Amino acid sequence: MSQKFIIPADDLDRLLQEKCTSELRTGYITVDGVCLPEYFQNFADRVENFEVRDDDIWVCSFPKTGTTWTQEMVWCLANDLDFERGKVILQERFPFLELTSLWDYRNVIQRRPDLVKPHEFIFDSFNFVNKLPSPRFIKTHLPFHLLPKEIRTGEKKPKIIYVSRNVKDTCVSYFHHCQLFEEFSGTFEEFCRLFLAGKVYFGSFWKHVSGFWERRMQGNMLFLQYEEMKADLQSVIKETAKFLGKKELSESEIKILEKHLSFTCMKANPAVNFEEIIEIQKRLKLTTNEGKFIRSGKVNQWKESMSKEMINRFDSWTEDVPKGYKTCAQRFKFDITQYEYMPITAFVYSTESGSELHDTEKKLYYPLRGKERTEVQKKLEHIMLM
Ligand code: A3P
Repeated sequence: MSQKFIIPADDLDRLLQEKCTSELRTGYITVDGVCLPEYFQNFADRVENFEVRDDDIWVCSFPKTGTTWTQEMVWCLANDLDFERGKVILQERFPFLELTSLWDYRNVIQRRPDLVKPHEFIFDSFNFVNKLPSPRFIKTHLPFHLLPKEIRTGEKKPKIIYVSRNVKDTCVSYFHHCQLFEEFSGTFEEFCRLFLAGKVYFGSFWKHVSGFWERRMQGNMLFLQYEEMKADLQSVIKETAKFLGKKELSESEIKILEKHLSFTCMKANPAVNFEEIIEIQKRLKLTTNEGKFIRSGKVNQWKESMSKEMINRFDSWTEDVPKGYKTCAQRFKFDITQYEYMPITAFVYSTESGSELHDTEKKLYYPLRGKERTEVQKKLEHIMLM
């Protein structure tokens, strides 16, 4: 694959350059349509030629869609709820493949001898992941078309769990993240404009989601959604365990895991709060923000944060996604309130078939991850793939 590294230069690019760069991140490029830190170009070959293993377990996502939450769930399930080993920080248990390509620590460390060299999972994440024994647990935010060649071509078939989230909540969460990690100095309104234009790293959101959505029926892929985890974590746990080929968990095991994964427990768990990275940013004086990585964990935050005009822009952007992404966009447009009354798959079914669903039918399709869903799944998938 020959990748083109383009340095874009319109008004929003200038805004991004002005408000979201630092000693560690000097600028941005576009790689095959994806916005990435310019430092990434030094690592593009390492991503492309990364040696994948069939028994790897990957969690893929657009940033801020519940990646960490999903990683912790997947790791605990795959490791038979070994909470003792789970005390090791998540970045070591479940490293972030391209982390090293996001921030130029090498350059900064050369100029700042007072700084301690960060752990290898930050300093050379590719090497760190390479050396791990199987089965490896790997996180990535890369869109499907930028994943290592061996995954794209199907030569290697690791298990892939993709998690997505309501686009407006993702944007709100990403704004706070960029304030915490990049000292983003713009307003929320400016951030929304960048997000809509796909000018936030790993953007654009819809291209990211659709790349995985289109492949969700492949046997090695599981497609999850943040709102679904909020609404019915137990069902998601069961389905993920099944996908990972684990034996059925007892009711009490499920309850223990559910508690471990609860927002309150995760927020208090130092292993999943990226404290090491935040500490480095503080030492580098790149952040003065006292925020926490696991922040509020709510759905529908956009209702409090976005202006009416911005909501309209997001909605029409979602409506305007090119054909092929459309069904996918529709599926994720809803907020939890509607979701509770009418499961998303049911909604797609009813609109596509042009008929209204009765209460009994709604019940039939709920819960999404329940047994009933599998029975109607094929029909729905058939409709949605059209
Ligand atoms: P908010 O910023 O909206 O609070 P990612 O891991 O992809 O960066 O996603 C981070 C988002 O997931 C943050 O959202 C974070 O609070 C939320 N999150 C993490 N653990 C969670 C949990 N146990 N329950 C609900 N949300 C969680």
